[in-house]
Amino acid sequence: MSNWDTSLIRTYHDQTKHSFESVRTGAHVLDWMSQPLPFKIYDGGERIPLPEDVPGSSMPGLQAIAAAGHPVTGEVMPGLATLTTLLHHSAGITRKRDYGGGEIYFRAAACTGALYHIDLYLVSGDLPDLQAGVYHYGPHDSSLTMLRSGDYRPLLVEASAGEEAIAHAPAVVVFTCTYWRNSWKYQTRAYRHTYWDGGTILANFQSVAAAHQLPARLVMSFTDAPVNRLLDLDTEKEVTIALAPVGRAQAAIPGSTVHTPPLELSTQRPRREVDYPAIRAAHSASTMEFTGDVSRSRGPIAMDAPPQTSGPMFPLLPAEQLPDETIEGVIQRRGSTRKFAREPIGFNQLSAILRAATTGVQADFLHPHGANLCDLYLNVHAVDGLPPGAYVYHREQHALEQLKEGDFRNESGYLGLSQDIPADASADIFFLTNLDPVLERMGNRGYRAAQIEASITAGRCYLSAYAQRVGASGLTFYDDDVTNFFSPHAAGKSVMFLIALGKRAPRNRQ
Ligand SMILES: Cc1cc2nc3c(=O)[nH]c(=O)nc-3n(C[C@H](O)[C@H](O)[C@H](O)COP(=O)(O)O)c2cc1C
Repeated sequence: MSNWDTSLIRTYHDQTKHSFESVRTGAHVLDWMSQPLPFKIYDGGERIPLPEDVPGSSMPGLQAIAAAGHPVTGEVMPGLATLTTLLHHSAGITRKRDYGGGEIYFRAAACTGALYHIDLYLVSGDLPDLQAGVYHYGPHDSSLTMLRSGDYRPLLVEASAGEEAIAHAPAVVVFTCTYWRNSWKYQTRAYRHTYWDGGTILANFQSVAAAHQLPARLVMSFTDAPVNRLLDLDTEKEVTIALAPVGRAQAAIPGSTVHTPPLELSTQRPRREVDYPAIRAAHSASTMEFTGDVSRSRGPIAMDAPPQTSGPMFPLLPAEQLPDETIEGVIQRRGSTRKFAREPIGFNQLSAILRAATTGVQADFLHPHGANLCDLYLNVHAVDGLPPGAYVYHREQHALEQLKEGDFRNESGYLGLSQDIPADASADIFFLTNLDPVLERMGNRGYRAAQIEASITAGRCYLSAYAQRVGASGLTFYDDDVTNFFSPHAAGKSVMFLIALGKRAPRNRQ
């Protein structure tokens, strides 16, 4: 299928929109007999336990989150300790909770339904304390499983059409998605969750990397098949979604095609899996076959200028002294807020969240002086110093423009899939993108980019909220109703993500 026939990805997006009616007519009953395992566990392969005591960073967490939006320069060779910190604080287990049938293992980043369909692999050259190879990260036992021995980075350089950060990277983390782990609950809409959860994980990843002064750019354009073969993925079920080169060496390695025979390694599989062809079709439609497609997808994306409006402007409050907790400490405490107190947060806190989360995303599809893909729309319910109402955020001016004044708690509850969380929150941030210019530049691959850029930004809102002891929760939404609510300003845009922010209700009220 062609990456450049953008009707294909539009069909997927339109068919997976939620509406009040679709949610009520499409009720889905979970089949507990086919509940997926939240980990990929190899039956064999050499296991390398990751070190337990690894040094943390010293930068204040909020500063690290903001720094994640800026390029990190200089040569840095990561060692196993730093890689361990990076992997653990992105996709590792941070909490366990008992429930009737067993234990849930919660992870460092918020992931839809706690189903954890994103896996991380490491493709490295020789590092000071790790031999060159291809490894799978196992959060369940905090280990690397060696899949191949030797330096396979030239394959990634070739697949990414010589992407600069990959060519200079001592190691590359490869992100994959196993569809069934999420489609078990969310069916066809799970393909959006691939990038939502990939994005929250990348928000942690890039923030932790920034705290350790480690370059960690996101690369979304690459030829898919060679990377999938490198990891020996069964692409009907698991696919590569993103590459993240880590560190920087002076010398660039040249790209080349590399022979990657199938691995003789089996993994634990669920008893039964249901295939959702629309997911595979959406992924296949955004697949790049040739490096020419990769090169063609790169270049500035000309986002439309925002409509001329003249609502009252509320500049963000200046930054105050930062809480000194490190990003690792913030991530360790993070968890989605299940109940908000309907009490105000400060405009200073909302300002700090917006400032830290919107410094940009280090990614191959964004240019240093180019536009970001997503726009932030807010419903403010209880923020001291900011009148309740609907707003759009102007990044360049660091200011919120009021689109309409009023108490929109009920409307927000409805827009967030008729749930209490967005109604009770102090503010809700909706991330919307005009897909037209993105798909025009990148083809269907732009859909992956747009989803993940919004999710990384939202993931950084999660972290900046927790850094200030403000609660947060990702949410799903009724697509067209959100666009209509913020129109005419938001006319033509698609909703990518929703996050609620606010004061957590005391536990005994949950
Ligand atoms: C993109 C996204 C959407 C979510 N949507 C909802 C939602 O609609 N309702 C809800 O109660 N929780 C929602 N959550 C919260 C997840 O259920 C939660 O992240 C997951 O259970 C893991 O828990 P933790 O975030 O506390 O680690 C969402 C999370 C994300 C990242």
